[in-house]
Amino acid sequence: MSDIIQKLDQMRNRAQMGGGKRRTDTQHSKGKLTARERIDVLLDEGSFEEWDMFVEHDCQDFDMASQKIPGDGVVTGHGSINGRLVFVFSQDFTVFGGSLSAAHARKICKVMDQAMKVGAPVIGLNDSGGARIQEGVASLAGYADVFQRNVLASGVIPQISVIMGPCAGGAVYSPAMTDFIFMVKDTSYMFVTGPDVVKTVTHEEVSAERLGGASTHTVKSGVADLAFENDVEALVQVRRFMNFLPLSNREKPPLRETNDPIERMEISLDTLVPVDALQPYDMQELILKVVDEGDFFETQSEFARNIITGFARMAGTTVGIVANQPMGLAGCLDIESSRKAARFVRFCDCFNIPILTFVDVPGFLPGTAQEYGGIIKHGAKLLFAYAEATVPKVTVITRKAYGGAYDVMSSKHLRGDLNYAWPSAEIAVMGPQGAVEIIFRQDIGDEAKIKERTDKYREKFSNPFVAGRYGFIDDVIMPRNTRFRICRGLKMLANKQLENPLKKHDNIPL
Ligand code: HXC
Repeated sequence: MSDIIQKLDQMRNRAQMGGGKRRTDTQHSKGKLTARERIDVLLDEGSFEEWDMFVEHDCQDFDMASQKIPGDGVVTGHGSINGRLVFVFSQDFTVFGGSLSAAHARKICKVMDQAMKVGAPVIGLNDSGGARIQEGVASLAGYADVFQRNVLASGVIPQISVIMGPCAGGAVYSPAMTDFIFMVKDTSYMFVTGPDVVKTVTHEEVSAERLGGASTHTVKSGVADLAFENDVEALVQVRRFMNFLPLSNREKPPLRETNDPIERMEISLDTLVPVDALQPYDMQELILKVVDEGDFFETQSEFARNIITGFARMAGTTVGIVANQPMGLAGCLDIESSRKAARFVRFCDCFNIPILTFVDVPGFLPGTAQEYGGIIKHGAKLLFAYAEATVPKVTVITRKAYGGAYDVMSSKHLRGDLNYAWPSAEIAVMGPQGAVEIIFRQDIGDEAKIKERTDKYREKFSNPFVAGRYGFIDDVIMPRNTRFRICRGLKMLANKQLENPLKKHDNIPL
């Protein structure tokens, strides 16, 4: 017995050393933590239960039989974040470069399968040279096994990817199918083909950082949601992020006690919207003043800045917020903002998170770039996402709600539950000047006449009352009361029941 215990200790020590001191030092010298150190930061102290520490690869080729490291390059198991269960896998770059073997893949699949059974999120800490080259197709099969599980778990449990080193080739497609991707600045990158292949095929010279670093994916491509300064900041922020999410689609969003009174008035909101309709203002200010304790976790903050998405709480309950941002492209909807918001709305709907929408949208962005890029299909994604969502939907129009974009932004017609307008709301087919120049084309050039007709149009449509007359908005609310009205509305909607027709799945315009 004592022999076995001694052996157990030895094996545990061996596994915990990963690829050894030299490789661990190299990892640290790059500013990166090891797989186990990352888990220590991510999970509550002492909560980690490791699985499969003794798993080894079964590759015989290329002298691999003599090179076995227990755990085989990935640390897996479960633990808690602020007392709530999560499953985790953390790739160990010090062991064969974190590369994925068949055994490594089986370990990841095991935690994913268990997470599905008990209904808890999976957080993947990615740091890998990709497919284990020595294993060939067995490694590719392992990737596919993970991909299949990513798809089946989508919408059932939240799946979070943190990219903390290389993630290249087909390996990128597992994170790509998860719900959120976070990256670490300067030490992580993702690309389908690396700089060398790019050079051979397209003759472009590009660094790994510029091709697939954190700024590329959080600003340009929108593949990643956020980038953090270093490993510790990334993991601490993932802890904060997880507090907003339910553990699975079987749960309601978590409730966190708040001392922020629901009836808190924000008098400053009465003057947030400038008198001049062409002047921008910061929609972020409205969000921060309305939500519990000003605590807002913004997603994709650097991408498509004409729309804001993120999580906050109202009266303690998580809400997903979507808001046009007049400071970016005047708040117009375009291809990128439609894609960004559509995916966010669908995530909220999967996981029973009420959606709060703040609207100030002058319409869709015009131009050949948008049309050639397929704004028709991309804009339809957001429309589709809102229309299929059955979670509570509360909408506040602060200023412009023009044209098709009015319909899209969680309008009453797309089963909005509560649609409020501020007195400054303008709900119309288009802006007054544009409307008059179309209806009264013959008067163009006669400035006085155009002005008179514009004023008349504004008086008739550029207010919330015509929509109010039809019941398309439920009430005109004072900006200062926004928090109170939303909280009360969400309370009324807490037990909302609405189901879409039975179908295999829908066919969202991709
Ligand atoms: C086996 C690997 C490996 C791999 C790295 N290593 N990648 N072992 N399979 N894919 C090993 C190295 O041999 C080395 O071992 C250790 O990990 C660290 O690697 P270094 O090259 O020294 O590190 P670094 O200089 O930081 O470079 C990291 C890297 C580079 C850029 C990731 O290692 C690299 O280019 N690796 C190959 C990447 C690749 O082509 N992967 C296959 C992609 S195709 P020692 O013993 O010296 O410490 C793919 C298909 C997936 O993944 C398809 C899914 C559908």
